[in-house]
Amino acid sequence: MITILKKGSGLSAVLGLAMAAASQGAAAECTYSVSNEWSNGFTAEVSVTNDGASAIDGWDVSWEYSNNRITNGWNADISGDNPYTASDLGWNGALQPGQTVSFGFQGETNGGSVEQPELEGTVCGDSGGTSSSSTASSEPDQSSSSASSEPEETGQQCNWYGTTYSLCETTQSGWGWEDGESCIARSTCESQPEPYGVVGEDSSSSESSVASSSSSAGESSSSSSVSSSVSSSSQSSAVSSSSSSSSSAPDGDYERVDNPFAGTEWYVDPVWAEKAMGEPGGEAIAGYNTAVWMDRIGAITDGIGLKGHLDEAVNQGVDTFMFVVYNLPNRDCNALASNGELLIDENGFEIYQQDYIAPIKEILSQPKYSDLHIVAIIEVDSLPNLVTNTDVPSCQEAAGPGGYVDGIQHALNELSDLPNVYSYVDIAHSGWLGWSDNFSEAVQLIGDTVKGTEKGVDSIAGYVTNSANYTPLEEPYLPDPSLQVGGQPVRSASFYEWNPYFGELEFAQDWRDAMIQSGFPSDIGMLIDTGRNGWGGPNRPEGVSDSSDLDTYVDESRIDRRYHRGNWCNQPGGVGERPQANPEPGIDAYVWVKPQGESDGVSTPDFEEDPNDPNKQHDGMCNPEENNEDASVPTGALPNAPHAGRWFPEAFQLYLENAHPPLD
Ligand code: BGC
Repeated sequence: MITILKKGSGLSAVLGLAMAAASQGAAAECTYSVSNEWSNGFTAEVSVTNDGASAIDGWDVSWEYSNNRITNGWNADISGDNPYTASDLGWNGALQPGQTVSFGFQGETNGGSVEQPELEGTVCGDSGGTSSSSTASSEPDQSSSSASSEPEETGQQCNWYGTTYSLCETTQSGWGWEDGESCIARSTCESQPEPYGVVGEDSSSSESSVASSSSSAGESSSSSSVSSSVSSSSQSSAVSSSSSSSSSAPDGDYERVDNPFAGTEWYVDPVWAEKAMGEPGGEAIAGYNTAVWMDRIGAITDGIGLKGHLDEAVNQGVDTFMFVVYNLPNRDCNALASNGELLIDENGFEIYQQDYIAPIKEILSQPKYSDLHIVAIIEVDSLPNLVTNTDVPSCQEAAGPGGYVDGIQHALNELSDLPNVYSYVDIAHSGWLGWSDNFSEAVQLIGDTVKGTEKGVDSIAGYVTNSANYTPLEEPYLPDPSLQVGGQPVRSASFYEWNPYFGELEFAQDWRDAMIQSGFPSDIGMLIDTGRNGWGGPNRPEGVSDSSDLDTYVDESRIDRRYHRGNWCNQPGGVGERPQANPEPGIDAYVWVKPQGESDGVSTPDFEEDPNDPNKQHDGMCNPEENNEDASVPTGALPNAPHAGRWFPEAFQLYLENAHPPLD
C-alpha cells in the first residue's frame, strides 16, 4: 500500500537549480524574521513585499550565515548550502504592488546563536539591492500586510462573531489578534476572518494568482477561535493556542472540541478485539482503540458495518470513534497490494460520491450518534502519491479530474457538514515526504487541496502521519541528523539518503508549523500511527555505535530495523506507543490506524483472488524473496502473508514480541 520515491537528496542537490527570473529593478522590501527559537534550532520567515508601483514577476532572495544552517523549508525553492537562495515556486512568484509573499524554513544553530543575516535579492531594495533583516517586529508589521485597514496601535481591539480580540504580536508574522489565549490570526479588524483567503489590498488584488491559489505565511486569515467551545483539561499547553474551530451543531447541542481525543474514552472495535484475543498474549492490546476501515462500498454494510460499529460505540458509552475513508478511484496508484474497486475511467468519481461517501454521511448524520466525536482518517497515501509518483500512469490519472484531489475535496465537503466529524488528512510519513523538496511540494499540494474545499482550512481538524507504516517516532541513538561521523553528516548515510527526518515526531510537528504558516489555524493537530512502529525486541540496539564508518554507525544505532525506509509491506516491527491524547506539543494523539495483525499485502505471486477485493494483487514489495528495486536491498517482508486487510497471525505475534514500550 505504501510506497516512497525520493525526489532529492538535500539542499545541496538542488544548488543552482530552478532560479526564478526576477524582474530587475523592481522595488520590494525583504524582511527576515525569526519566528521561533530553541536550544539548537530555530524557524524563520522571509517576507517579500512589493513596495513599488509595478508588478513583480518572479523573485529570489539570498543570504548567508556564520554558523546557522537550514534543514528544511516551505513555500519557496531553497537551494544552496550557505549561502542560500530562495526562489518563488511559480504559483507565488507574481506580486502586485502592495502584495506580500512569505516563505519559511527551519534551521540549526550549530553551537552559535540564532543569526539575523542580511538579505540580498534581485527584487529586494529600491533598485534590486539589499534589504535589512529584523526580528519579528514589536510594532505591527504594516508593510507585510496588504490589508485595507491596518491596525494602528497596540491595544486596538475588534469584535468578530461576538468575541473581542486584541492586537498582539505573533511569533510568526508580526502582528495578529488574540482572544485571551495566544496571538493567532492576521486580518484587518474590519474584515472578519473567512475560512480561507488572502486579504488583498482591494478586491481586484485578491483575485490575482497569489491570492487565489494559495496563501503565504501570515497572509491568510483564519476563522479559528471564534467559538466558545470546550477544550479538554488534559490539553497540553503547547498543543494548541485556541479552542475550537467550529461551533455548536445547528440542530443540536454538540460542541466541537479542539482535540477529539483529549480527555475522552475511545471505542474498542469488537471485531478486531475478538481476533486479537484469539492470539496468545493478545489480551495485552485487545482493549485499545483501532480504526475501522471503510475500504470498499461493501464494508459500509458487511458484517456489523459502519452502523453496527457506531451502535456499539454508543453501547460502550465511549466518546471517540475513529474510522478510515479509503476508497478513492485509482486507489494505491503506485502499488498493487491495495488496489481498490473504483477506477477513474469507469465512472469512479461518481460512484465514490454517490455509493460511498453519501451512505457514509447518511449513517454518520443519525441523531443517535451526534454526541460521538467521530474521527475520519482521510485516504491514506493518496495525496503523497501525487507529490512523488505522477510518473506512474495510474497516479498521473489520479492527479487529474475525478481523481484524488476531487475525491478528497468531496469527502471533506460532505463530512465537514457534520459538526461532530473531525477529519485528519493523511500525509504519509517522514521517510517519504521528509526531503525538503518533497516536504514543500506536499505542503503546497495538500494544503491547497484542503483550502479548495467549501470550508477551506476549517474543513479539517489536522493531519495524520505514518498510517499503516513503520517509521519510528524518533531514533533515540541518532538524535542529530547533522552530526559528523567519518567526516560526513549522519543524514547522508545510505539508510537516510540525506533525508533530515529520522522519525515521525519532528516531521509531524514541523508539518503542523508549516501548515499554520501557510494559513491554517493554530488549532490544527497531528495524529501519528504508532501501531507497529515500536521496534523493540531482541534486535533493538541498546546504545550508540562506536564505529567511525558512517553506514556502520547508522546501521548499528538505528532502531528502525528495515533494510530500507521505503519497505512498507509486512515489516517485522513491533507495537509502538499506546494510543494516547496530547503526547507531545502539536500532536493531538498517538493512534492505531492500522490494526495490528492485518496484512499489508499478499506475499506470493500465485495468490488466490480475494472475493471482497478482486482488484488486490501481489506487489513485489510484499514478497520476501524479492528486492526493493529502488534500493537493491531485500524487501524484508514477512512470508505467508494473506491479502491486505486479512488476518495474519504470525505478524500479530511478532508485533507483540517486538513491542516497545514493552507490553505488560
Ligand atoms: C487494506 C484494507 C484494510 C486496511 C487495514 C489496507 O492495506 O487495503 O483493505 O482494511 O489495510 O488493514
